[in-house]
This record gives sequence, C-alpha cells and structure tokens, in this order.
Amino acid sequence: MEVVIVPDAKAGGELIAEAMAQLLRRKPDALLGVATGSTPLPVYEALAARVRSGAVDTARARIAQLDEYVGLPADHPESYRSVLRREVLEPLGIGMDAFLGPDGTAEDVQAACEEYDRALGEAGGVDLQLLGIGTDGHIGFNEPCSSLASRTRIKTLTEQTRVDNARFFDGDIEQVPHHVITQGIGTILEARHVVLLATGEGKADAVAASVEGPVAALCPASALQLHPHATVVVDEAAAGKLK
Ligand code: F6R
Repeated sequence: MEVVIVPDAKAGGELIAEAMAQLLRRKPDALLGVATGSTPLPVYEALAARVRSGAVDTARARIAQLDEYVGLPADHPESYRSVLRREVLEPLGIGMDAFLGPDGTAEDVQAACEEYDRALGEAGGVDLQLLGIGTDGHIGFNEPCSSLASRTRIKTLTEQTRVDNARFFDGDIEQVPHHVITQGIGTILEARHVVLLATGEGKADAVAASVEGPVAALCPASALQLHPHATVVVDEAAAGKLK
C-alpha cells in the first residue's frame, strides 16, 4: 500500500485526476469505479477540467457505480445514479450507455446484486476504483464487521450513516432509505488499482486504523492492505494520526 500525503483536498483531487487521465491515455475504454459523497468532488472537478482543455479524451471511458440506495426511483435526485450523472458523467461528457450500476429498484434485490457483480466481470473488471472512507472506516457501504470477502449485496445502513446522509435529504432522516446495495469488499479488491482519498481531520482516526492497524473486519478499509496496488491519498489533516 502506498500512502501519499498532499497539502489539501484540491491537491489530492489533482493527483488522482491525473492518474485517471494517464490511465485513459493508456487505455481509452478504461472502466473507472467512482464513489459518491463529498470527498471525491475535487477529483471529478479536476478531471472535468482536463476534459474541457482537451488534455484527456473520455469518448470511450466507462463508469461503474460503487453503491446505491434501495427503493429510491432511479430518477430521484439523490439516487446515486442521479448524483453520478450530475457530478461525474455529465461534466466528463460520458453517456449513460457507458455507465454500469446496480438496480436499486429491482424486486429481487439479491438477484440484482449478483447481476451487477457479473456485469462488472463481463465488462473486464474495474481498472481504477476511487473510494472515500467513513469515519468508522467503511468503504462503499461496507460498515464495520462486513466480511472482507463480501460480494455485492444488500446492507442495512447504520443509524449514524443515515444521520450523516440526512444532509442530502433536506436534513430529514425519515427520507433516508434504510437499505443500500454496495459492492462487497471482495468485489472492490478485484479492481486493478484502488485509490482511497481521505481529507480533513475527521478522517484521521479511520486513516490511521486502515493504514497502520491490523487487517480486520472492524475497519473495512484495512482490507486495502491486502491489495497489490492500493494508493491512499490523504491531506495533512487526515494524515494527522499516522505514526
Ligand atoms: C459513497 C461511499 C461512502 C463514502 C464515505 C465518505 O459512495 O461509498 O463510503 O465514500 O461515506 O463520504 P464523504 O466523502 O461524504 O465523507
């Protein structure tokens, strides 16, 4: 695992966007795995700037979703599909035909999860998976105690995560779904390159546990220590508790 400490979130965004741009120059139809949440936004902004300036061509790029709420209509503004369309696909000029994601509205959610894992495999696997990290060490919606070998599956959100995410639902926790589909930790580890971005002091404990703690289900992001090509990009605040 490689740890890169950058001065701030913007620098982290630039660094990871450049890695994605280099990947796309090498492999124009690369499958980029993307996360939602606040942390990756500087990455998407920096990559979109490269697209606008012509420094990178996304005409053949493909995007894969990490997780999705169960039961929100796909066109709900806070479904992760909608969020990714707004924050990633449109700014990068990538169409929905190049988008892979699980069906959060499927009647048979378990079948939809298995179908998504299969689709990722059939697409040749994720080339670069971008991750954020929760304050409790979660990646995707794999909360503490998730199996390190888990596949894409349905999970129940913890009360804390629903409280955290209420900010996207007019501050009303009642509107936050109880269930999500998330790529499993085992699924995430199949990406060829996994890049985790963490910024801000609030992530410092989770970063220290993930990078320097034991590999343990109690800290899902610690599983990245098992990956042959994992890069953890942290700003100085998030690096504050590293030894
Ligand atoms: C989002 C996701 C989550 C977030 C994490 C951090 O798709 O998978 O694991 O990355 O909750 O969220 P932010 O970046 O908002 O602090």
